[in-house]
Amino acid sequence: MIPLTLRIIRDEHAALAALLHTIPLVLADHRRDGTLPDFGALRALLFYMDEFPERLHHPKETELLFPKLRARAPHMRDLLDQLDEEHGRGERAIRNLERSLTAFEMLGPSRRQQFEREAEHYAQIYLRHMQLEEREVLPAAERALTPEDWQDLDEAFAQNRDPLAGRHSGGALPDLEAPYRALFQRVLHALPQPLGLGPRRPSG
Ligand SMILES: [Fe+2]
Ligand SMILES: [Fe+2]
Repeated sequence: MIPLTLRIIRDEHAALAALLHTIPLVLADHRRDGTLPDFGALRALLFYMDEFPERLHHPKETELLFPKLRARAPHMRDLLDQLDEEHGRGERAIRNLERSLTAFEMLGPSRRQQFEREAEHYAQIYLRHMQLEEREVLPAAERALTPEDWQDLDEAFAQNRDPLAGRHSGGALPDLEAPYRALFQRVLHALPQPLGLGPRRPSG
């Protein structure tokens, strides 16, 4: 039986990966059509990435999973240090991206290319980060951690889950606390189907 923690991490990775793949495609559609994107929707998406993956997913890995794995599998330490450093750079990266989006909104198409380039760069870094975790860290954790370790982790990882997780595979909409309900609806409408509830992309 695969521990709940590992299933949650993989689901949240899949949701974030879908988001990271989708945003550049939507931006490319607008560039091709010579139109401007919906800046409010993009701001909601960036805020969402900050609120869920940045503030909940990565900290749970850094504070809960990685210390247990460091203790049980010392040969993983260098890699875990590297991944922790990447978690540490995440907040700054999203701030830079938000600023670049504001520049695009305020100054117009002259700043389109820069925002697209930075969004693409952000996406590549996170996709590589998650691939590394899935290829190296999660299998090592599955081998090294004890049932007691998993019990602690499962309880913590089951809290504050990313509501977008499960959407890519047609999962049901989660029951969210009131403040998040409006944000999540906004995010869903900003994303094309099938990930979100917005119109399908012409070529997608
Ligand atoms: Fe991570
Ligand atoms: Fe992760």
